Amino acid sequence: MYRAPRGTTDILPDEQAYWYYVRQKAVEACQLYGYQRIDSPVFEDTGLFVRSVGQGTDIVEKEMYTFTDKGGNRVTLRPEGTAPVCRAYLERGMHNWPQPVKLYYLASIFRYERPQAGRLREHHQFGCEAIGDGDPALDAEVIAMAWQFFLSLGLERLSLQLNSIGCRQCRPGYLAALTGYYAGYRDELCPDCRSRLKRNPLRLLDCKKPSCQRIADGAPRSVDHLCPECQAHFEKLRHYLELEAVPPVVNHRLVRGLDYYTRTVFEVQPEGGSAQSTLGGGGRYDDLIEELGGKPTPAIGFAAGMERIILNLREQGIAVPPLPGPQLFIAYLGEAARQVAVRLAANLRRAGTGVLVATGDRSLKAQLRQANARGVRYAAIIGADEVAAGSVVLRDMANARQETVPVAKLPALLT
Ligand code: HAM
Repeated sequence: MYRAPRGTTDILPDEQAYWYYVRQKAVEACQLYGYQRIDSPVFEDTGLFVRSVGQGTDIVEKEMYTFTDKGGNRVTLRPEGTAPVCRAYLERGMHNWPQPVKLYYLASIFRYERPQAGRLREHHQFGCEAIGDGDPALDAEVIAMAWQFFLSLGLERLSLQLNSIGCRQCRPGYLAALTGYYAGYRDELCPDCRSRLKRNPLRLLDCKKPSCQRIADGAPRSVDHLCPECQAHFEKLRHYLELEAVPPVVNHRLVRGLDYYTRTVFEVQPEGGSAQSTLGGGGRYDDLIEELGGKPTPAIGFAAGMERIILNLREQGIAVPPLPGPQLFIAYLGEAARQVAVRLAANLRRAGTGVLVATGDRSLKAQLRQANARGVRYAAIIGADEVAAGSVVLRDMANARQETVPVAKLPALLT
């Protein structure tokens, strides 16, 4: 027997109400903030991700699903959604549209990670990108949108973490200070952090090992090394967030796992949660479009993990509305009744009423059991007498009350 690949899952019908609910809330948030949908290919040139996510990151080093296709092209299943949107922005001439261009996506994402609760090899993201404006008020708006989206789902006990990690000008000074600090602790660091010290010192700050965390507590803070422009940007952002009534907690160790970020970074986490439970995150990436061959174009965005959101909805006991299904089940006894059932179902569906018709030659009891299992409101039962009279026995599934109804009256009764 084949099994779904490790770290992937099937989203079965009884889970779909959660997915529908979260997608609906995402789309509503996008309508409120003026984001338009974009869908990009599931795979892209490998170089796009190496260039944007960054050589020294876990994603590029260990997690990409990369292969050579039959034409000899190196392609990668998208391990995140920002780079494809930036590629499309450039390729499709969106720099000529009114700026900022505000786009959102609902997309599957592929990372070869060690699977565990809330960490899959194929997961799904709701993401937003606002490209073409460096105004800190836009940062505040994107963060507010992310925050409002999570609140609109009914989730509680969330925290919004915020930091600024500077820009091309001030980052090198900060990295030097960080590397200098960590050099004194080299022997106490975990093996991963020792190699990060050379390749990606920012990532030392969010190592989850308790011994490394203790060292990170005393590490230099990025906000103390910001250039005047980045400092002003961060101050204005916090002011605009106050106006948006969104309450961030400044977390000096928040750095994110992708290399393209500049200035603002943020994450939404369940209170007391670990990095594995982060529901969403994002930030500015003012150099990325230029890195991909465009003119300097500031941008900011975020993405949220659908599976983690649904996990939290369940944990917090948040009920979601059931998905609408067929209203009527038609049960029949005998071939003549079956023919009436087929014609009746066709007419009702044409009139816009959802109908399930029994199949095969099961007993009436078995047919009604099926109707019950599918949660329909009514069952119409047709036997030889009903065929002769042009009627059905209409059964209210909630209370088993039955009445005989002329077929012609059914559509009106069901709407
Ligand atoms: P990210 O933090 O790598 O950011 O992923 C965003 C969210 O996707 C995470 O907060 C988490 O909820 C979910 N997620 C990530 N990996 C997994 C996984 N293996 N299993 C389940 N859920 C996962 C980005 O991808 C950026 N592109 C976000 C962004 C958009 N930044 C600017 N614009």
